[in-house]
Amino acid sequence: MIDIAKLTELAIAYDAGDPRRVQHFMKVYAFCRIIGQREGLDAQTQNTLEAAAILHDIGIHEAEHKHASSAGKWQEVEGPAVAAPLLEQVGADPATCERILWLIAHHHTYAASEDIDFRILLEADFLVNAYEDALPPNACQTAGDKVFRTRTGQTLLQNLFLASPYQS
Ligand SMILES: [Fe+2]
Repeated sequence: MIDIAKLTELAIAYDAGDPRRVQHFMKVYAFCRIIGQREGLDAQTQNTLEAAAILHDIGIHEAEHKHASSAGKWQEVEGPAVAAPLLEQVGADPATCERILWLIAHHHTYAASEDIDFRILLEADFLVNAYEDALPPNACQTAGDKVFRTRTGQTLLQNLFLASPYQS
């Protein structure tokens, strides 16, 4: 199993000076953890998902440096090469490492797979991006219909973005 706390420390060190990115991946990690646990993932899949959540956007800085863009496609292209040495430092086995790099390389390609770890990563990233980017309710509704697969993710989406606004 990957030591998630150690991996998180390494990822934060890699993103040093960019607290916005750190806040983003910590939130995606937290939602992945909740959704994965509530959906009953086995321990190995849960661990792989949590590591992928920490590292999913690790390619952004390279994307910005090399391509002057943080577009999803460039993050997918640049992410794996940045993530691989971090996974090596925490002793990830080759199969787990390969899976995490695949998840990183596809996390903006919604139709890439129906595998549960992949779907949960997409859902968690959407939940965080919807808030950070202030997406309108209709965009959240559309994602709920087309992108979300898990009951837990659907419920979180509903309660966070589609319920009546809180009134004090
Ligand atoms: Fe993200």
